Amino acid sequence: MNTRAATHDASATSTPFVHEGIAYGCDYNPEQWGPEVWAEDVLLMREAGVDLVAINIFGWSHIEPRPGEYDFDRLDTIIELLHAHGIRINLGTGTSSPPPWLTTLHPEILPIVEDGTTRYPGGRQAWCPSSPVFREHALALVEKVAERYGRHPAIALWHVSNELGCHNALCYCDDTAGAFRVWLQARYGTIDAVNTAWGTSFWSQRYGAWDEILTPRLTLSSRNPGQVLDFHRFSSDELLDYYRRETAVLRRHSRVAVTTNFMVTAHIRNMDYWTWAPEVDIVANDHYLDHRLAEPATELAFAADLTRGLAQGKPWLLMEQAAGSVNWQPHNLAKAPGEMTRNSLTHVARGADGICFFQWRASLQGSEKFHSALVPHAGTDTVLWREVVALGETLDRLAEVTGSTVVADAAIIFSWESWWAGDGETRPSQSVRYLEQVHAVYAALHNLGVTVDIVAPGTDLSRYRLVVAPALHLVSDADAQTLNDYVTAGGHALVTFFSGIVDENDRVRPGGYPGAFREMLGITVEEFSPLLPGQVLTLDSGAAASLWSERLRSTGAEVMASYLDGPLPGVPAITRNRRGEGEAWYLATALESGDLIDLMRTICRQARVTAVGPEGDGTIEVVRRVGAKATYRFVINHGAEDVDLPAEGRELVTGQTVSRVVRVPAGTVRVIREDLAS
Ligand code: GLA
Repeated sequence: MNTRAATHDASATSTPFVHEGIAYGCDYNPEQWGPEVWAEDVLLMREAGVDLVAINIFGWSHIEPRPGEYDFDRLDTIIELLHAHGIRINLGTGTSSPPPWLTTLHPEILPIVEDGTTRYPGGRQAWCPSSPVFREHALALVEKVAERYGRHPAIALWHVSNELGCHNALCYCDDTAGAFRVWLQARYGTIDAVNTAWGTSFWSQRYGAWDEILTPRLTLSSRNPGQVLDFHRFSSDELLDYYRRETAVLRRHSRVAVTTNFMVTAHIRNMDYWTWAPEVDIVANDHYLDHRLAEPATELAFAADLTRGLAQGKPWLLMEQAAGSVNWQPHNLAKAPGEMTRNSLTHVARGADGICFFQWRASLQGSEKFHSALVPHAGTDTVLWREVVALGETLDRLAEVTGSTVVADAAIIFSWESWWAGDGETRPSQSVRYLEQVHAVYAALHNLGVTVDIVAPGTDLSRYRLVVAPALHLVSDADAQTLNDYVTAGGHALVTFFSGIVDENDRVRPGGYPGAFREMLGITVEEFSPLLPGQVLTLDSGAAASLWSERLRSTGAEVMASYLDGPLPGVPAITRNRRGEGEAWYLATALESGDLIDLMRTICRQARVTAVGPEGDGTIEVVRRVGAKATYRFVINHGAEDVDLPAEGRELVTGQTVSRVVRVPAGTVRVIREDLAS
């Protein structure tokens, strides 16, 4: 079968994902247990209120134990058992990890990493996304699964593969090189156009024929950045193409909604989900708190807002999170009592209509035996289990929130392409990292109580009062123009350093940085002047700056602060430019967090951005979801002190009516329904 030639049947439409109330679910791996445990599992699921269960995620070696020989007995039993207990199914296509017989028969499907060595079976996702052999076998499996269960009444959602690209996004094998060339031909048409896009006149890299182009394996020196950037784009597209192939098979047999679980997290960056999101029937994300970050809870809020952005503001599903610790960080912290509930409701506050976990019952064997689960090793007479049951009850009480949406005054422009280009191998400072710069501006707005939408470059910005473009290194002329038009029409923008430097081919815009935004900002930068780690400069506003400075001149902008010391004393560090009806601010350095909050407060005031929550250190988080008849104000208290906030309406978690004030006890969440005047 020529899998690559298979077409997406656009005429077949799917039904949207529909669920009564907020979905509460988990991954369930019954292959790891026997029937007596399954019987207990479904009863416990009922007790907890779990109503959406993902199965068959890693099922391949069980359901196709030998090539072309299928055994669905166990899966049939599990599906009927769940169905009999009223539990809906998020059915995995089962293709995420190939069985040993396949990698034994066809070792050519194994991924090759950038040093040219093979990654072997024994872990998971040991397959190359471009492998025609893998695709043929995987799609044959999907066909069987879809034929068998496509019309089963318990199937609520299709779960394509699992976390596509978690481990295998970038494969450097020969099959991939062939697919990369086809992708380049479609993008550029001629080899000359590739040479121009990649700037191959540099270091004698000019290509004369398509076959000379390889995947960007490790080189002695640094690699061609244009080639690396396009390889990222190609690799994201290639996995999306694979998603489409599985979806096309499912559509032939089923009208049920199809999705796959994204990984909007701090440590995975290989998929440009702006291009993926329009292709899933409902956006679903996996999120794990990352204790390697300074502010894990703020990153959680950012990831949830970004997921909502991918969903174009519509409700989405949290497909995985951990009930307690994970097992893959250097120090896997347990969650404090109440933290799992707070995290869950933070996702709901920011637009999730479903809260699911990895996984149902803690494994006794395998790499994840020390990963938490809803049913821990210690069983159900535990603090964790009681919280699991209580969360189910809370989600039930919040059922009416589903379908409501979050409204924000401010937006941050976020770009995976800019992440790939800006964090490239050779850059002015290895200490400047794209995501850290994005997180910094997000954290400042978060601490000011401002709700933020995260949007793609080129998005219509007219609904926002403030738009921030942090370190938007790569930007096309058209997308830069969107921001420029927004400002001219009366918008307020803040652009931070290292933005607007290169076009979509990673080519520097000459004539002074930041090329794409120079005019809008009324400045020009002659030279970057990064700082050494630990070096802290002072501005004449009193603010502390680090990481970066640049030889900046105003060509019309008002200078708001300049350096007192460092390599560029007297040179502007913060500017503001009136342009058309609006204003564009520029921040040419990294401010210490309190100083960044001060700057952001000033800009927010001028832009008339409304804060939904109180200003603070992020301990009290407030977000509002707006429904047809009511708004729902979520107050999340991450702190150790009870807080009182003005409120009027019905509090949904406790079911009490509040008048004038709502008390939010330490570590808890309250959701106040405020009826809209009819
Ligand atoms: C991922 C996977 C799950 C599990 C969890 C553990 O996100 O999808 O199968 O491995 O991580 O955190």
